[in-house]
Amino acid sequence: MTKKILILPGDGIGPEIVAEAVKVLEYLRKNNSLGIEMEHGLVGGAAYDAAGHPLPEETLDLAREADAVLLGAVGGPKWEPLDIAVRPERGLLGLRAELALFANLRPALLFPQLASASTLRPEVVAGLDIMIVRELTGGIYFGQPRGIRKLPDGEREGFNTLVYKESEITRIGRVAFDIALKRNKKVCSVDKANVLECTELWREVMTGIGADYPEVDLSHMYVDNAAMQLVRAPKQFDVMVTTNMFGDILSDCAAMLTGSIGMLPSASLDADSKGMYEPIHGSAPDIAGRGSANPLATILSVAMMLRYSLDAPASADLIEKAVDKVLDDGLRTADIHTEGTRRVGTAEMGDAVVAALS
Ligand code: IPM
Ligand code: MG
Repeated sequence: MTKKILILPGDGIGPEIVAEAVKVLEYLRKNNSLGIEMEHGLVGGAAYDAAGHPLPEETLDLAREADAVLLGAVGGPKWEPLDIAVRPERGLLGLRAELALFANLRPALLFPQLASASTLRPEVVAGLDIMIVRELTGGIYFGQPRGIRKLPDGEREGFNTLVYKESEITRIGRVAFDIALKRNKKVCSVDKANVLECTELWREVMTGIGADYPEVDLSHMYVDNAAMQLVRAPKQFDVMVTTNMFGDILSDCAAMLTGSIGMLPSASLDADSKGMYEPIHGSAPDIAGRGSANPLATILSVAMMLRYSLDAPASADLIEKAVDKVLDDGLRTADIHTEGTRRVGTAEMGDAVVAALS
């Protein structure tokens, strides 16, 4: 059966990097009889400019019909003055919420070829392979009430609500434990249970799930300590599971351990493994349009899509091997370039991956 993929290039470097990922999908469709069809849509600032909203109804409909969504990146200084309700980021948050993509998988994997690109010593990061499982549709990102209000004395006050239902904690917990079963069978749940009641409940529920997975080693860590441990001794972690906001912060930190935020893909999944796939780096407006951005995180996001949503693990392996090969061959975009390697642009890197597929 043909699977439908919605392509949402978005803003900044989004269109450039997504174009390379589309080349990879096209290649697999033509040469490896991958049964897919692709449709393009607008999201973020590009959608605001064209249709007055970062997530037009038409895009949402296409996303609902699709089996998987590939997203580039959203946002840029051009749209920063806009009201928060129509800023590009709202397009992304709207897709997560409307499609119920509660499970965000963010691998922090060090490619051995890039060990010297990390700001940490090679022996601290060599072999690093962490999977961060971030809750994506709840917590303080979506909790009500929220806003900015005026107090009786005229001073303004900003407020947000951190809230998790037991069922929300349970479903993300199960995702983390199931993933751990296929890896090194360790889950570290990150919270702030010493201060926040909401995450006291989080810890209690995680402990309860742990009882159903006796073969998985569960530990708990406060988020401040987790941030420190990530830069002190990151290899102690296998799977980390945490709230929406803690996951946002820790995943950037973990990504940088690998030296190359331009290399890391992500998946955001619903309960039926329908998913949205995107590089974890942003829209990088400073280098947009120059053809110098690294397309590998987006290409690796396609591999995650094939594995998690399209039931095509062999094609996913093929892509990952191709990326490995171009790195072995010494090709590097500017963000991962070091002495003695060959600096290439976005399209040249994409073409090299396609060539390595065959
Ligand atoms: C991320 C980003 C988003 C988030 C922004 C762009 C809304 O930082 O995906 O990590 O905060 O979730
Ligand atoms: Mg983030």
